[in-house]
Amino acid sequence: MPTIPRVSYEFYKVLHVVGIILVFMTLGASILHAANGGTREQNTSRKLIAALSGIGLLLIIVAGFGMLARIQSMSAGIPGWIHPKLLIWLLLAAAPSVIARKPSSAKIMWIVVPLLGAVAAYLGISHK
Ligand code: HEM
Repeated sequence: MPTIPRVSYEFYKVLHVVGIILVFMTLGASILHAANGGTREQNTSRKLIAALSGIGLLLIIVAGFGMLARIQSMSAGIPGWIHPKLLIWLLLAAAPSVIARKPSSAKIMWIVVPLLGAVAAYLGISHK
């Protein structure tokens, strides 16, 4: 029987951070485009940005649960500090369509998006 290599906690963490980089890069791009009055059609990089954002969101969640499985038994259930992180993940996933539908929201997004990131980072760093 071939043995499947075990993905380490550290590797999941690198993937988690790469996902975060992709999501925040693409949100910055979408916010700047909307803030400059760009329409959906004028955004020629729309598909690339959507793909990178999707890959980033996937990496965050897969690597997040991967790390969780390394630091505790999954039969212990999902700890409380993960719940707000899941909500933040959902809000970051919804943000591009909010920005595209309501470009006037772009200004406030410069504040809201980094604040959401700060809360998610704080939860990941300080939960112990
Ligand atoms: C949505 C945006 C998110 C951001 C910005 C974020 C950010 C972070 C950061 C900065 C860390 C600390 C890394 C370190 O210790 O060096 C971390 C750890 C972690 N995050 Fe996230 N995270 C997010 C979403 C999630 C989600 C959705 C999950 C779901 C399972 C998750 C699960 C974890 C786990 C398990 C850890 C490791 C905690 C530990 O080692 O004690 N994160 N995250």
